[in-house]
Amino acid sequence: MATWSAPGKVFLFGEHAVVYGKPGVAMAIKPRVFVTVRKSRNPTRPRSPYINECFRRMGVRGSVYVHSQLQSSSGLGSSAAVTVATLCAINDEFGLGRTREDIADMAFAIEKKVQKGRASPTDTYVSTSGGIVLITGNSKRRLPPQGLQIVVGNTMVPHSTAKMVELVGNLQKKHPEIANPILDAIGAVTLAALHNINHPRELGRCMDMNNALLEALGVGHPASSKLVLAARASGAYGAKITGAGGGGSIIALCPRRAKSRVAGAIEACEGKAIITTIDTDGARKEKHD
Ligand code: MEV
Repeated sequence: MATWSAPGKVFLFGEHAVVYGKPGVAMAIKPRVFVTVRKSRNPTRPRSPYINECFRRMGVRGSVYVHSQLQSSSGLGSSAAVTVATLCAINDEFGLGRTREDIADMAFAIEKKVQKGRASPTDTYVSTSGGIVLITGNSKRRLPPQGLQIVVGNTMVPHSTAKMVELVGNLQKKHPEIANPILDAIGAVTLAALHNINHPRELGRCMDMNNALLEALGVGHPASSKLVLAARASGAYGAKITGAGGGGSIIALCPRRAKSRVAGAIEACEGKAIITTIDTDGARKEKHD
């Protein structure tokens, strides 16, 4: 029996634009998904299409148990974390000898297939490696870790990443003259943010600009706007949608002393707050009996 876990993630900057080859920055966060895999003669078919695809690609059969600290469809990369942790646990339990890089690539191929759409390798790569990662097209670079103080606000409005990616795709096809400059501007904000990674006030301002551009792309939602405004009003340096939008979650960059106030303001607006920071472990082995 092998148990592995993998973390969720937040997009700090550049979601959606990253699907069009612009730079994006994502960070692994503390909440994780735990997956136990056991060799078994009579495995039951798992209900998750991600887990099914993991077993199919690894060419083995076994039983699986999942325990998640991440809500699904919340924009925090839970499907990527499940996929990465399952692949690692299968690899370990069956002694298949796959590297971390193989796992990240395979997890990305699985996400793409199950989500039937355009996707970037961000979620699966960040969940495998941990830390802060800069993604541009197919290139992925781990950036030096930063102690960013983040409050996540889950709107509790479930969303479909595939649908939101399609919505932006439709806008880009119908009105490239509008969508392309917005996507370029998101890329420019991401680069400005990288220059200001040690300056929380400027970083917060970049988050606010990124949020306005995501709203312009049409991936906003009244519930996320409410949480973003509440976070800013209660002392965050800046706040934005994180992930695909259309509900899902927001993040607020906070001074250390304001974290609980910001979390309280989010909860007062019917959001679910998580006070968190960077995870630098990525996928990790929990136990092997
Ligand atoms: C979803 O977490 C982020 C998107 O940019 C899609 C992706 O990068 O695969 C919307």
